[in-house]
Amino acid sequence: MSASQSNRDMRPDLDETINVSEAHGAIKDAPPAVGREKSLRENGMESVSLLLILVSGIVVLVAGSVMGQGGSFFGYGETVKDGYMRGKSPVKEEVPLPPISVLALLQKEGQKQYAACASCHQTSGMGGGEFPPLAGSEWVTGNTEKLAMIIHNGVGGPIEVAGNPYNGNMAAIGANFGPKELASVMTYIRTSWGNNASLVTPQMAEEALKISKARGGAPTTAEELKKNHDKMLPGDTLDPDTLLDPETWEPIPAAE
Ligand code: HEC
Repeated sequence: MSASQSNRDMRPDLDETINVSEAHGAIKDAPPAVGREKSLRENGMESVSLLLILVSGIVVLVAGSVMGQGGSFFGYGETVKDGYMRGKSPVKEEVPLPPISVLALLQKEGQKQYAACASCHQTSGMGGGEFPPLAGSEWVTGNTEKLAMIIHNGVGGPIEVAGNPYNGNMAAIGANFGPKELASVMTYIRTSWGNNASLVTPQMAEEALKISKARGGAPTTAEELKKNHDKMLPGDTLDPDTLLDPETWEPIPAAE
């Protein structure tokens, strides 16, 4: 037995006429068997089953809602600081506050301002002791200019209120009031506790602030008030039922 013969016995495939690389190449090019399998992408990534994606999505949704209900961890209160106030949106509010009559608006605002007066004149407007009453006072229900001067500048010295003499001092409690605040508190005291005088508009109060500025800041006296300020403030009065936007204080245009 030659050396080559024994070699052949050990490696029988050497005699095969089939070239393995060629045979595999043929399979790759036109492979009936491979064609039945899922085709492979060029980059080797297999596409994921659509069903698997759907099922995963449902699992995530369910899990999310379970966690959402499970405790406060995802709650609004946990993610927002205590006392957090949402800033005012620059976009105009969709729902406007209901209109309010000018009288009701002034009274409502005036009641808030009146907190600065109640310590002396009392919530009842009755005053007491050295503090004269606002209820039934002609200084309150009479001409508006002198009332505005009292509130904006303060008043001191002898003064007769509802038939009784007083002689004290009141500081300029309303020195920082703007037209709206002044108009509100004036209207409030002129229409409360049985007082039944006309309302004071912010426009009138604005005139009052001008007059007050012109006279300087010193507290006024009953004498000066009678001499220089015993008149109504200029400006058109408003029908107390006129409807205003409570936010802008502008009249609501009449419906078409
Ligand atoms: C610290 C006490 C005090 C406070 C607060 C005060 N007043 Fe007076 N007020 C007086 C005194 C005292 C007089 C009398 C002054 C005098 O004798 O000349 C007076 C007089 C008046 C008068 C004229 C007399 C009368 O009773 O009608 C009016 C009107 C008045 N105050 C309104 C107000 C208003 C409105 C406020 C709040 C914005 C206010 N006062 C806050 C003490 C106070």
